[in-house]
Amino acid sequence: MQLFDSENFLYKNNKLYAENISVNEIIKSTGTPVYIYSKKHFVNQYLKFTKAFKDIEHIVYYAVKANYNINVINIFSKLGCGLDVNSEGELIRALKAGAKPGKIILTGVGKTEREIELGIKNNLQLIKAESIEEIYLINDIAKSLNSIAPLAIRVNPDVDPKTHPYISTGLKENKFGIDSKQALEAYQIAASLSNLKLSGIDMHIGSQITEVEPYVEAISKLADIYNTLKKQGIELNHFDIGGGIGVVYKDEKVFDPSQLAKAIIPIIKPLKAKLSFELGRYLTANGGILVTEVLYTKKNQNKNFVVVDAAMTDLLRPSIYKAYHHIQPVLLSDRKDIIADVVGPVCESGDFLAKGRQLTECSRGEKLAIMSAGAYAMVMASNYNGRRRPPEVIVDGNKFHTVRSRETFDHLLYDEKIVEDLT
Ligand code: LLP
Repeated sequence: MQLFDSENFLYKNNKLYAENISVNEIIKSTGTPVYIYSKKHFVNQYLKFTKAFKDIEHIVYYAVKANYNINVINIFSKLGCGLDVNSEGELIRALKAGAKPGKIILTGVGKTEREIELGIKNNLQLIKAESIEEIYLINDIAKSLNSIAPLAIRVNPDVDPKTHPYISTGLKENKFGIDSKQALEAYQIAASLSNLKLSGIDMHIGSQITEVEPYVEAISKLADIYNTLKKQGIELNHFDIGGGIGVVYKDEKVFDPSQLAKAIIPIIKPLKAKLSFELGRYLTANGGILVTEVLYTKKNQNKNFVVVDAAMTDLLRPSIYKAYHHIQPVLLSDRKDIIADVVGPVCESGDFLAKGRQLTECSRGEKLAIMSAGAYAMVMASNYNGRRRPPEVIVDGNKFHTVRSRETFDHLLYDEKIVEDLT
């Protein structure tokens, strides 16, 4: 079988290593399933990206939603990233990771009053409005707090990012942002309100985008709006093009950040605004694996099944987007390949990690690595079927740290108790 091409998850003497530690050594201490991350991958992705944009003033906000372990957030924060948070829960994590509030931006299509209030009280760098109603609400809340809220408006540029429909966000039929045709009006309204300080324009057109063209198209639309606003006396300084940069899961042809830089710097430089990104997947996806143990193998109706101890509860992407994640053995051997469905223990036919997949024949007790599990894996995990969410480990050279333990059954029960009146 073909092995996934990864710099930080490589085989030495037929054993899979995470940086300089064998995966087997880690799972001896953590058990399976477990998420294992490579710090080096995270750091290198950031450095590669920021280097590509060295010719223009820019900042990368790490989109915390991709992987919100506070140690992961801390790594990006220490590298100089700002943080993009989508909820109170993510804000709490960002603050707990030690991030400066002045480098945090608050996003979200449905922020509650409480979230907006928290954003203002914590002096976040920016709050992004996604509707005209929200602009008024942010102003009212700022007024009641005797404060001025720093505001950016998320514009929906109506551009097709050519990705999975569930992760496409910049088409006019999507719920996100303010229609580009209404954008000028939205800015005029915001400029007329007493407790707002307008500072930015923002877009995020989708995720796992593999072509530069949709960015160019959308950024050009936003640049027109930006210039028109300037003529009308509304000066902005934060030009945020969101995230969405695609990575390789299988054999996708993705673009290099330098290609994006070459295409968009000429559009943005004349605006004299600070270019901002909100990157999630690009920074973390291929910096993580989910290691699982084979529980059973069987053949039904001539079809092979490999039943493993990880499930859709630990990696939801295959079930909901039919996403491909490469699966390979932790110990290589020269057995023949089979075609099999790799499935979890959950009582749903949708509980699969791979379908009709070619992989090395394996047997009970063997360990498999599910690749590209550094983004949108743990953060989308659930307790369905009473399952405990797996631990998370970060490898740093020849050391590893368990940065979150496996949940206990007490976590699952939280504060549930029998209410006598109900019995
Ligand atoms: N900014 C905003 C406003 C976003 O909504 C997102 C992702 C990002 C930035 C980061 O996008 P990235 O660079 O990671 O593509 N669960 C899906 C992905 C959902 C993305 C949601 N928004 C998946 O597993 O593919």
